[in-house]
Amino acid sequence: LKLDWDIESAEKGGFEHFMLKEIMEEPEILKNSIEISKGEIEELSKAVNNCDKIYITAMGTSLHAGMVFEYWFSKLGKLVIPIDSSEFLIKGIVDEKTLVIGITQSGETYDTIKALKYAKEKGAKTATIVNVLGSTATREADITIMMGSGIEIAVCATKTFMSQLVILYRLFIEYGKNIGIDMSSYEKELLNIPKYISKVLNERENIKELSKNLNAKNYLFVSKGINLPNALEGALKFKEITYLHAEGMSSSFLKHGTISLIDENMDTVALLPPTNSELFSSVTSNIEEIMARKGKVISISPIKNDELTIKVPDVLEEISPFIYAPVCQLLAYYKAVELKRDVDKPRGLAKSVTVE
Ligand code: G6P
Repeated sequence: LKLDWDIESAEKGGFEHFMLKEIMEEPEILKNSIEISKGEIEELSKAVNNCDKIYITAMGTSLHAGMVFEYWFSKLGKLVIPIDSSEFLIKGIVDEKTLVIGITQSGETYDTIKALKYAKEKGAKTATIVNVLGSTATREADITIMMGSGIEIAVCATKTFMSQLVILYRLFIEYGKNIGIDMSSYEKELLNIPKYISKVLNERENIKELSKNLNAKNYLFVSKGINLPNALEGALKFKEITYLHAEGMSSSFLKHGTISLIDENMDTVALLPPTNSELFSSVTSNIEEIMARKGKVISISPIKNDELTIKVPDVLEEISPFIYAPVCQLLAYYKAVELKRDVDKPRGLAKSVTVE
């Protein structure tokens, strides 16, 4: 008897890579992230009420989730400082009135654990948003919030990023309600997020086709506002698995140096905000400047401008990060597959970095 399958391909559930499988799981796992850890989110919201400032300490993709949170909380007038965990001990100003939230999928990242320990020593209240029960972060933090993504095998974080965002968005809603703000429109949209993501994922063949237009050696990922962290994350994902150079930045920041790099050898992925955003025209005009310098632009946009546009649902700006992230993940994925990279285990990278 000859079996033409192995355990690994069975675990991939018919997908070529774990990364694609995990991206495709997003709508389902987010339903779980919408339900899980209710009491802990309420507890954390109270801790937010009692603190003077909030630090988010995290690395890699988890830090980008924390950066989105900064935008949500700015709407509620509460200062959030996202910080690369390896810088936390150097510049963090921590006392008893500080809340430190460590976001870590694995719960084992060396720098994030070190930051949480330091925060505790200084008397701060600590919390962690984590995917692995019983991990070191859960033992260090005062409050543990499970994100409920299920195991993620690909080194590249995809579905766990989305779960982190859901948990942080729920904290935004909870705290907003606590301080007497009407959060009903945000609450209603929370339940629609899996549906919007499914819509995006159903477009994956188009995204695959469009990824074939990315032919440069250098890439820029640009946006403004709440999708700026997604531009950073899009660039990170892209370089992580394609091994091509990519940088993420605000489209307005381009003018302050980077624009001199733009010519036909630099491709740009532009994340245009939803049409209800005040930033739409600003990002559009930044894109025109790129095109005027012969830079190719692939846009992720609620409006189809040309054949290089990936059209996304035109949603409330505050939930747009949930829509743009999977598009960036798929772009990186298809480009890496085309280049025959080791998508699930990119060279030199580890799922969890437990050393300094
Ligand atoms: C590594 C992984 C990244 C991840 C980062 C932080 O660099 O390759 O995908 O975002 O660690 O990991 P954590 O487990 O703390 O979220």
